[in-house]
Amino acid sequence: MSHPIIFDTDPGVDDAQAIAIALRHPEIELLGLTTTYGNVDIETATHNALLLSELAGRDIPVAQGSAGPLVKPRHPAPAHIHGANGLGNIELPEVKGKKDPRSAAQFIVDTVNARPGEVTLVAVGPVGNLAAALQLDPALTGKVRRVVIMGGSIREGGNVTPVAEANMFNDPHAAQRVLTAGWPLTLVGLDVTHRCVLSQAHMQRIEAGQGELGRVLAGSYAFYRDFYREFLGIDGCCPHDSCALAWLLRPELFTTAPGHLAVVTDGLAEGQTLFAPEGRGFIQERWSQTPLAEVCLEVDGEAVVEWIADTLS
Ligand code: RIB
Ligand code: CA
Repeated sequence: MSHPIIFDTDPGVDDAQAIAIALRHPEIELLGLTTTYGNVDIETATHNALLLSELAGRDIPVAQGSAGPLVKPRHPAPAHIHGANGLGNIELPEVKGKKDPRSAAQFIVDTVNARPGEVTLVAVGPVGNLAAALQLDPALTGKVRRVVIMGGSIREGGNVTPVAEANMFNDPHAAQRVLTAGWPLTLVGLDVTHRCVLSQAHMQRIEAGQGELGRVLAGSYAFYRDFYREFLGIDGCCPHDSCALAWLLRPELFTTAPGHLAVVTDGLAEGQTLFAPEGRGFIQERWSQTPLAEVCLEVDGEAVVEWIADTLS
């Protein structure tokens, strides 16, 4: 089965690998890349999206989106994790292509409306572009095939605060709108991405299989790996964003549950994702009033990292 997707991204080392999968996988029809600030500023995100697509020999529309959160001030980009250029500070070739003249939100609206019921939105950064697209066309909720979001955490705790995952924390107001919009939605969060650890051996296979693109993926991975070693004591990296595509293509590797999502927008817990399992009673009903969504709770992590390496080898 072919999956027409729009990939919304803040590249970013793990984003870059996921973009490579989106560009290479024979069952993915990549309709466009939409960019957001997050791991890098918006201009850098767009530059990297254009570059990665060129390195893969593809001419994919790249539409630039949100430069900052809807409400709160923007946090500085995490250059210690992804490098100041988002790709591990390695030297990069020049970009030749130009971005699409439309905003990311307009691109999403136009593309989904051109193929109602067919397009899946895969978002792996702060979700302001999806919130903006909903504002332009609220009926989008009934026209997408599915929305897959790498973000949030159900039982795992956070990675940038004790309770918040980075993509949710970076724009909690947008996340609250997007996660409660009532479209068919799957959340691929830290509960599963932290169970997937991509080793140096996996990366060597990817480098060998991807030519110049492989050099960039492996070079940036080396920088990202230093962060994991120093801060988390892991020898290897969690390929967060590739996991969203792994769920789309290989859902049988994941255990999911239906329920109601909400995102805390303010205070000490800002960015926390709240999940009320379907049918579970609580002291009041207010946690169970948002539309049903699906969250990933468990995964066969070894199979996912093998799938990533096989796809890019
Ligand atoms: O928490 C992981 C997410 O934050 C990933 O999307 C990664 O690229 C960073 O943006
Ligand atoms: Ca990302």
